[in-house]
Amino acid sequence: MNFTAYNPTKLHFGKGVVRELGTAASKLGKNTLLIYGGGSVHRNGSYADTVAQLSENGIRVTEYSGIKPNPVVDDANAAAELGKKSGVDMIVAVGGGSVIDSAKIIAVCIANDHEAWDVMKQETVVYSSLPVLAVLTLAATGSEMNAAAVLQNHETGEKIGLRNDAMYPVHSFLDPAYTLTVPANYTAFGIVDLVAHCLEAWFGDGEASLSDRFVIAILKEALEHGPALMNHLFSYELREKIMWAATCALNNTTLYGRETGDWGAHRVSHVLSYLYDTPHGAALSIIYPAWLKTMKERAGNRIQHLGRELFGTSSVEMTIQSLVDFFRSLGSPVRCQEAGIEPSLRNEILELMNRNKAEGLCYALSDKEREKIMSYVW
Ligand code: NZQ
Ligand code: ZN
Repeated sequence: MNFTAYNPTKLHFGKGVVRELGTAASKLGKNTLLIYGGGSVHRNGSYADTVAQLSENGIRVTEYSGIKPNPVVDDANAAAELGKKSGVDMIVAVGGGSVIDSAKIIAVCIANDHEAWDVMKQETVVYSSLPVLAVLTLAATGSEMNAAAVLQNHETGEKIGLRNDAMYPVHSFLDPAYTLTVPANYTAFGIVDLVAHCLEAWFGDGEASLSDRFVIAILKEALEHGPALMNHLFSYELREKIMWAATCALNNTTLYGRETGDWGAHRVSHVLSYLYDTPHGAALSIIYPAWLKTMKERAGNRIQHLGRELFGTSSVEMTIQSLVDFFRSLGSPVRCQEAGIEPSLRNEILELMNRNKAEGLCYALSDKEREKIMSYVW
């Protein structure tokens, strides 16, 4: 496929890089909205370091906190309102993907005077954004170096994503030391997420052998260093490897030369997150194997190719089982019950999946296939 390679995010990686934030921010504005989640930023040092940088550079700060994991559109609207009132000229996001995603939408809403859900549903045209600076504290989504954001809306019953070139963070600061406090469960969910991003690219449309090899290289990093990290949660070196792998898994590198990634397993998994607040990575470790089992015929060759590269097998079954074993070894759930979702909820889940027409961009899913996916998750 023809493609345009584009990624304008300036990514600062390594110990102490937040020291570069003040200078970077002072070139972008004088008045910032600082957003974060439920308080982990106070325990890993990222908040104190960021605020010190802003204050040393004379930048005025207005705070909005309490962004939820599985972030909601109401927070984005409320933060945008606050940002407008305070006349901010940039957004500093400190946290994981939920905070950075929210920051991207808040920045677009302030710059264009839009409502967040209109932006998410692409009911308004987005040309511009306030600059976003991200301080990442959790290795998972790749939001720090991509143009995507995912929000949910309790009024419409949806958790959806949006991608827009205006939404790349201008600067992202990745100090693996901030991720040393991520507990085992979220560490595992982050590894699952980066693996799932590789798989979404792998099952995307189009021949792209170099991008395929990037996918395999990133997956090998996760397969090798993921379990090691689970055994050594305080290893800076392993945090470093997983952090960079997670960024590369969704910063376009794996997608050049393809028309698109698939994203079907992601969209199906969003229904679990929406309904039961299941963390994103946990939903994926349940749904991805079920999606693969459902796609055995339609994507058989690609599953075999993946198995040969990763696990030295051409067997579709063994490849899927190896992925299940990997997710399990991390401690991420592979059955709904392990995430507290009981079989009695099956119809509720299926109904919303069908209503939202959860499917991939390459592999459309029929209601029957969604039912099949749901038959593999218990
Ligand atoms: O809220 P706080 O107190 O900050 O706690 C968070 C949250 O409870 C905690 N945490 C973050 N950094 C920590 C930490 N705890 C201890 N130490 C630290 N250093 O971790 C919890 C989860 O945080 P969250 O930001 O929700 O996790 P993640 O980074 O996995 O983001 C998930 C969201 O991103 C979306 C997901 O759908 C989900 O809504 N995604 C965004 C994508 C993108 N922008 O490209 C792509 C992904 O596929 C994904 O859909
Ligand atoms: Zn994901």
